[in-house]
Amino acid sequence: MNILVINGPNLNMLGIREPVLYGAGTYEDLCNQIQAYCNEKKIAVEFYQSNHEGALVDRIQAAYFAGVDGIVINPGAYTHTSIALLDAVKSVSIPTVEVHISKVEEREDFRQKSYIRAACVATVTGKGFAGYLEAIDILVEKKV
Ligand code: DQA
Repeated sequence: MNILVINGPNLNMLGIREPVLYGAGTYEDLCNQIQAYCNEKKIAVEFYQSNHEGALVDRIQAAYFAGVDGIVINPGAYTHTSIALLDAVKSVSIPTVEVHISKVEEREDFRQKSYIRAACVATVTGKGFAGYLEAIDILVEKKV
């Protein structure tokens, strides 16, 4: 089984960006934590982060041609704006779990809409970095 973990805009700034909301860990810490978890579970994992919507679409499409089994995605602010990311996930039919580090449902009104959610098998919010591990468990349990 191989999983692709995608992070959208500003998630490369973890550790610097609003630590009260997103924690003190860096993007590198996040990847290391996920990598260690996947090593334990003998799952192959790759990581991708971009601040650019089109680059994220390209990476989702590339996952299809590379035979990726499951995607964990935190689209950052594109969650609330991007129909293109929704369409990309729908296009590839790869089981995808949406993750948010913060509890988006308790935040501003403009964060209450998630376009990508309609194409995802599950959503995990408000669990910090552990939410990514939970998302991986969900993909494993669904035997993607
Ligand atoms: C986020 C929540 C989004 O609303 C925000 O724009 C982000 C991070 C989260 O992980 O909690 O960039 O996706």
